[in-house]
Amino acid sequence: MGAMTAPQNIVILTGAGISAESGIDTFRGGGGLWEQHRVEDVATPEAFARDPDLVLRFYDMRRAAIQTREPNAAHRALARLEREWAGQVTVVTQNVDDLHERGGSHAVIHMHGEHLNAWCTACDVRSRWTGPLIDRPPCPVCGTRALRPDIVWFGEIPYHMDAIQSALAAADLFVSIGTSGAVYPAAGFVRLARELGAATLELNLERSQGSAWFDETRLGPASAVVTAWVDALLG
Ligand code: APR
Repeated sequence: MGAMTAPQNIVILTGAGISAESGIDTFRGGGGLWEQHRVEDVATPEAFARDPDLVLRFYDMRRAAIQTREPNAAHRALARLEREWAGQVTVVTQNVDDLHERGGSHAVIHMHGEHLNAWCTACDVRSRWTGPLIDRPPCPVCGTRALRPDIVWFGEIPYHMDAIQSALAAADLFVSIGTSGAVYPAAGFVRLARELGAATLELNLERSQGSAWFDETRLGPASAVVTAWVDALLG
């Protein structure tokens, strides 16, 4: 990013691709989750109303799986950037795993929810949760058996949009890592960031649906391109 002065505030959008090398399935593309399961069966409020067991079993499986996975070099590189960069580094993730946090990042915004939370639809409290929900355990706060996965399903509103909007407004550099650009509102952040004056960089295995909006695209596995980018930035 040659001529550009050093960015102060960096906003990094991540998607399933950053966790792929940790052994967590992505959603689209060969063998992706949405090839194995129909979105309409497991990732909509209607699906939960229609067949809660199918949905709870699906997320119980995902919740158990992520706890067997470890952060990779890309997660750790972003944590290093947060620690050593003079300006603000904010990770806005579409991912519902906890690999950014286990990789050492603190400023992480989960816009699509988290596997390791259960959301009580009776008292509206979200509780840390690592076990299954299929047996309808009671809410640790109100005791009601009305817990659901704390995941933003299709048709539901993403979390923390105000905080994300403020981070984008303050960003000098917007970087997108490991996302196909298939799902809004996240897929629209690059255009918003540009309009707000930020430089834009894409780091991905392949060009995404929004590649044309980025000043620069670097292709390759996240563990390599993210680490190289952070090493270059921190010198
Ligand atoms: N390194 C970098 N990028 C990778 C890697 C890798 N090792 N492996 C895959 N990718 C890229 C793919 O090329 C693809 O562009 O990651 C992207 C993954 O895209 P998706 O599977 O569509 O995942 P994502 O963009 O995060 O999906 C967005 O859709 O299903 C919903 O709510 C869900 O948060 C999710 C949202």
